[in-house]
Amino acid sequence: MSTATPSPSAQPGTPLGPRPRHVLFLVSSSREPGQQGNSEWLARQAAAALPADVGQTWLSLNELSLPPFVDLRHTVGQYPAPEGDLKTLLDATLAASDIVFVSPVYWFSIPAPMKTYLDHWSGWLRTPGVPFKTEMAQKTLRVISTSGDRAKAQPMFDSYRLCAQFLGMAWGGELWGKGGAPGAVQADTEAVAQAAHFWR
Ligand SMILES: Cc1cc2nc3c(=O)[nH]c(=O)nc-3n(C[C@H](O)[C@H](O)[C@H](O)COP(=O)(O)O)c2cc1C
Repeated sequence: MSTATPSPSAQPGTPLGPRPRHVLFLVSSSREPGQQGNSEWLARQAAAALPADVGQTWLSLNELSLPPFVDLRHTVGQYPAPEGDLKTLLDATLAASDIVFVSPVYWFSIPAPMKTYLDHWSGWLRTPGVPFKTEMAQKTLRVISTSGDRAKAQPMFDSYRLCAQFLGMAWGGELWGKGGAPGAVQADTEAVAQAAHFWR
């Protein structure tokens, strides 16, 4: 999976303003490395419809080493600058104009690696020198998902939409396809057709 990360757009003191579009795709399937799941396959159909001048970064959370999140809000009160893969994720998050959660439904909910990433947002809101809240409010969040049943995916979509709302992010909507074994979603012709228009 490509881990090409653009230089972070958000340094302390950098003025806000229009910036080139760059989409960060965060894949949270727990399939083995190298095994492309249905959600990623569908997301790549959508990505193919992006204009050529829009940058893309793809990161698979399962291939990164994320520390467990520790809630320091009411003790230390702030967080040190992240290091290693957590820094990679923060930099990629800040550098993106658009973030797409490529997220299967696991137990009617958010896959654990994505949940850990989201929990770290709480720390990044409290990391000195990181204008996380201001920067996130400039971004759009979208979700591309597969599972067995669209209606039962709704609580997960609602959770993501509420996370976006909490940070003042624009909500770009969701794309869902019927998954299962790898390749299954390719038979969901409606989802494949919708992928081509996902960015509108
Ligand atoms: C741990 C786990 C939990 C799952 N929970 C659900 C679920 O609650 N509802 C559902 O419809 N499918 C569930 N599935 C099936 C996946 O959502 C489905 O196979 C999906 O297409 C997998 O995405 P991927 O191919 O991108 O990895 C689950 C699969 C796993 C491995």
